[in-house]
Amino acid sequence: MMQLTIIGFGNQARSWALNLRDSGFPFKVAVRPESQSIAEINREKIPFILIGSPEFYQSEALALLIPDDAQVDFLKLHSSQMRPGTTVLYAHGYALSRFLLEKKYPDLKHVLFAPKSIGTELRKQYLQRGKLGAVYSLEHVTDSSQQLEEWVKDLGRGMGITMGPYPTTFLRETNADLYSEQGLLCSLIPYAASEMFNHLIREGTEPELAYFECWHELKLIINAMVDKGPEGFFDLISPNALIGAEKGFEKLMTPEFRKNMHSLFKDITSGKFDDEVKSADVPALRDKIRARWMNDELNKTFLRINQ
Ligand SMILES: NC(=O)c1ccc[n+]([C@@H]2O[C@H](COP(=O)([O-])OP(=O)(O)OC[C@H]3O[C@@H](n4cnc5c(N)ncnc54)[C@H](OP(=O)(O)O)[C@@H]3O)[C@@H](O)[C@H]2O)c1
Repeated sequence: MMQLTIIGFGNQARSWALNLRDSGFPFKVAVRPESQSIAEINREKIPFILIGSPEFYQSEALALLIPDDAQVDFLKLHSSQMRPGTTVLYAHGYALSRFLLEKKYPDLKHVLFAPKSIGTELRKQYLQRGKLGAVYSLEHVTDSSQQLEEWVKDLGRGMGITMGPYPTTFLRETNADLYSEQGLLCSLIPYAASEMFNHLIREGTEPELAYFECWHELKLIINAMVDKGPEGFFDLISPNALIGAEKGFEKLMTPEFRKNMHSLFKDITSGKFDDEVKSADVPALRDKIRARWMNDELNKTFLRINQ
């Protein structure tokens, strides 16, 4: 079976490596000589090589598990020494779909294999035999794709994927991933929770109770939603929750809300969001968001209760 070389040992790479090691899937990790991760890689008894070594360039399949914004320069630096026909796996379609890497490097086989999970959960769910989903795309591979498809499915089994991997395209994966981050996972959920938490404490609710209602219970209720499905979830909740849910749905999901949510997708597909990414000052943005949450009572309560 084709051996995989995982580039990097970050959030995704670490979980890929540990899961594949425990499943007996053939792989090694490749890191930079100065990587701070080498001690942990050794501790975990994971075989590794150095990026740029002769062995690295001999790899038949490389998983580019470094930050999306580093992937373009990485290929610029190393692709000329890779063997023609080397498979390059991406865990997210952003760099390829935005920078047309398949056109720049037509001698490489560009493959999407995207587990739909943050790295920590990929490992945790693997250990707990939980459910994990993934998507893949072989749209840029013209030859021997049947064999490659089987290999991608084996890789999914080694990683603990239980749903799929299902076929998609680089572009659709990228757009869906960006949209769910912007409209739901990284905006609506945390900011609606903060809005409600702060309103409750202004109205005299104890912060601990408000914390349980608006933050900790999120996890428990989302578990139920994912386990039971939407219909099953609404069958489970109490009459008051049902009546209240309908009221909240009618009041909050206004035409304007829907329009705003859909406009996020339009900005992604039109390229407007890409322009915003190009001109963003990420360290300054991180500082701004960190300061916002540091001063938020929800965060302070989280730290106090969980210390
Ligand atoms: N974060 C997630 O859980 C998550 C979820 C879904 C998809 N993904 C996708 O997975 C991919 C990896 O993301 P990630 O968040 O896991 O990355 P990450 O944790 O930020 O990656 C850090 C690793 O990349 C290495 N690295 C950084 N720049 C490098 C370079 N120029 N050359 C060689 N190695 C370099 C680092 O090496 P050193 O040790 O030498 O610094 C480190 O091992 C991305 O495509 C991302 O969209 C991530």
